[in-house]
Amino acid sequence: MVCLCQVNREKVNKHKLALYPGSFDPFTFGHLDVVSRASRLFDAVQITVAVNREKSPLFTIEERCAMVEEAVVGFTNVSVEPFEGLLVDHARLRGACALIRGLRQVGDFDYEFRMAFANRKLAPEIETVLLVTSEAHAFTSASIVRDVFRWGGDVSHFVPPTVVSALDKKRRENQK
Ligand code: PNS
Repeated sequence: MVCLCQVNREKVNKHKLALYPGSFDPFTFGHLDVVSRASRLFDAVQITVAVNREKSPLFTIEERCAMVEEAVVGFTNVSVEPFEGLLVDHARLRGACALIRGLRQVGDFDYEFRMAFANRKLAPEIETVLLVTSEAHAFTSASIVRDVFRWGGDVSHFVPPTVVSALDKKRRENQK
C-alpha cells in the first residue's frame, strides 16, 4: 500500500531542471543575477548557450561557453552547454520543466512574451519563467557591453572580472 506521505515525498523528490537560454555575447552581471535567482528556485539550472548562426557574435560558441562556465563556477547546481536548433527540442531532450528568461525593464516584455507564447505553442508542458533582474542591472545588456568594448570604455561596470579578461584577450587578438 502506498501511503499519502510517500506520494508527497515522491513529488518533492522530483528533480526540477530549468534551462536558461541565451546568446551570452558576452555574459553580463545581469545574466549572473538571473542565474543566481534561478539556482535558488530549481534543483538544477542548465545555461544553454545558443550558437545562433544568424548573428555574428563577438565571441565564438566555445569562448562563450568557457566564459559562462568561469562566471558561474561558484554555483553547484548550474551547468553550461552549447545548443543549436529549437529550444523546446533541447529542453525536452534534457527533461527540463522550465525555460528561464530575465526581464530588466518594460522594454523586454514584448520580445519575451512573443518568445514565451511561441515556446508554449510548441511545448505546452514547458513553462517560461520570467525573472526580474536586480535594478542595479536594469540597463545592462550584452549589446551595450559590446559597444562600450568597441570604443575602449570600462566594461568592468557591466561584466564579471573573468569576462573583462576575456574581452581584453579579444581586444589583443583583434589588434594582431
Ligand atoms: O540572448 P538572446 O539572443 O536574446 O537569446 C535568444 C534565444 C537564443 C533564447 C532564442 O533566439 C532561441 O531560443 N533560439 C533558438 C531557436 C528557437 O527555439 N526559436 C523559437 C523560440 S522564439
